[in-house]
Amino acid sequence: MTVTGPGRAPSAASGPAASAQPTLPRPTAEPSDLSATPTPAWPRAWWRDAVIYQVYIRSFADGNGDGIGDLLGIRTRLPYLRALGVDAVWITPFYPSPMADGGYDVADYCAVDPLFGTLGDFDALIAEAHRLDLRVIVDLVPNHSSDQHRWFAEALAARKGSAAHDRYIFRPGKGECGELPPNDWESVFGGPAWTRTVEPDGTPGDWYLHLFDPSQPDLNWHDPAVRAEFERIIEFWLDRGVDGFRVDVAHGMIKDPELLDVGYPNQITMLGSAVLPYFDQDDVHEIHRSWRRILDGYPGGRIAVAEAWAPSLERLAAYVRPDELHQAFNFHYLNSPWDAEALRAVIDRSLDTAGLVGAPSTWVLSNHDVRRHVTRYGGGEAGLRRARAAALLMLALPGSAYVYQGEELGLEEVLDLPPELLQDPQRLRSPDENCGRDGCRVPLPWSGSASPFNFTPLNIVDGWLPAPAHWAALTVEAQWQEPDSMLGLYREALRLRREHPALGDGALAWQAAPEGTLVFSREPGFVCTVNVGDGDVELPVPGTLLLASGPVGTASPGVAVLPPDTAVWWAIES
Ligand code: NOJ
Ligand code: CA
Repeated sequence: MTVTGPGRAPSAASGPAASAQPTLPRPTAEPSDLSATPTPAWPRAWWRDAVIYQVYIRSFADGNGDGIGDLLGIRTRLPYLRALGVDAVWITPFYPSPMADGGYDVADYCAVDPLFGTLGDFDALIAEAHRLDLRVIVDLVPNHSSDQHRWFAEALAARKGSAAHDRYIFRPGKGECGELPPNDWESVFGGPAWTRTVEPDGTPGDWYLHLFDPSQPDLNWHDPAVRAEFERIIEFWLDRGVDGFRVDVAHGMIKDPELLDVGYPNQITMLGSAVLPYFDQDDVHEIHRSWRRILDGYPGGRIAVAEAWAPSLERLAAYVRPDELHQAFNFHYLNSPWDAEALRAVIDRSLDTAGLVGAPSTWVLSNHDVRRHVTRYGGGEAGLRRARAAALLMLALPGSAYVYQGEELGLEEVLDLPPELLQDPQRLRSPDENCGRDGCRVPLPWSGSASPFNFTPLNIVDGWLPAPAHWAALTVEAQWQEPDSMLGLYREALRLRREHPALGDGALAWQAAPEGTLVFSREPGFVCTVNVGDGDVELPVPGTLLLASGPVGTASPGVAVLPPDTAVWWAIES
């Protein structure tokens, strides 16, 4: 067997050549000329096949040298994202917050936390992103606020039945003296979803609902004032030029009106798909419809993407009906095992169900809430090999893809962080020591040989979490000129995806394939082959090799050998 790759096709014209790689864009903090950069006139449906890069702000790039990522840091690294070849950036919450849940506990929805910068920094970031033809999506966190939000303080101080009190969900407790929670609902982070209040005279009072941390009280979406306030918040950011919103817990705002018991413990896990009286209630869709009307009133194709944990792909499709949100994260795909049958089934059902409502499907492998997929796929060499193949599979599928910062570097979950540095409330509230999300939030390694790998300017202060020493080989700088690196693979895949007419929005057709293998074609002239099994697979060579995630062999003329966990893109003569 002869072997070529990994990486690009081995021909002289397109073979790996370090000299062909443009140099790594340097970070830059040049001030933008805001007046010269109006929002570009993008086609309305840009999002149908966009590759959207998730920036977890605290861990992407630190601009001011305090060890915590910020808006200035993101702006200085926009040239990197442009050169990587993504279409848009989603930035996790940067609003004023006590940071009990990494900023998903918002104390003021229309401002910037000083930890991350100022509104001026945000405006400069938007202007610079648009100048580079990158769109910017921000997080909207409507299910709950922080307990430090002015509204919650007012609600605690207010009389029952008053307008201020009704913005949250208070209920009397059960038991003789109200000493038991109103029902058996559980917090996603562990323990009951209810916390008892204390009356001004010091006696125990009613309970309030918090599906996440006790410092994240759930808002009462039956209150028109809550709805009006979020419409104002959406308009505030749209007026500042954002291209869309990622809607946190988009399935959670409406609860079963009777607050019925679930009836069993261990009800919920992060991104889970259980049927529950506090998630995915039909009436939540009216809220999304009202937001869609606002988005459609703005020029340039502003979008919203639902973070909805729906019990099925059918229920998920309801969030992307033509008059609701534009996209929904496909956690059914993220949660699929690395198995050909399972992957094919979830791909088919994703395309079918989204297709029923005319929406594109989305694909995602990692985010800031789950173990990085190199680790989920087995870690080490095998995990990396599978993650390389998974990247080519995902980026060849019809629709839009989300890339979580660092997956393009092949980062794995960091499992040995010093316990005293851990911050995730999920880890801190749960008896399960392995459930924390800090390990996928370690600051990105940019360059250099020791932590923080120039995550902070001048590399003086360490990042808020230390990076493992062996990430020296995984920095952006170390991989940039290496076509066979993970970064080289992502760059080339994103370049081809932009250029090849078959990739992006559209359809796929499955082709006959040996067991454990996925083979599909896309028109015009493209085939993707993936060996998901654990043995070599021989396949008739379908065309000219465009890009491979690993070495590809030749069994005989016209017959390719795909080693385990290998994906290949082929160009077909039409
Ligand atoms: C989903 C977010 O992605 C996660 O990080 C957060 O903890 C919960 N929603 C609560 O806001
Ligand atoms: Ca900082």
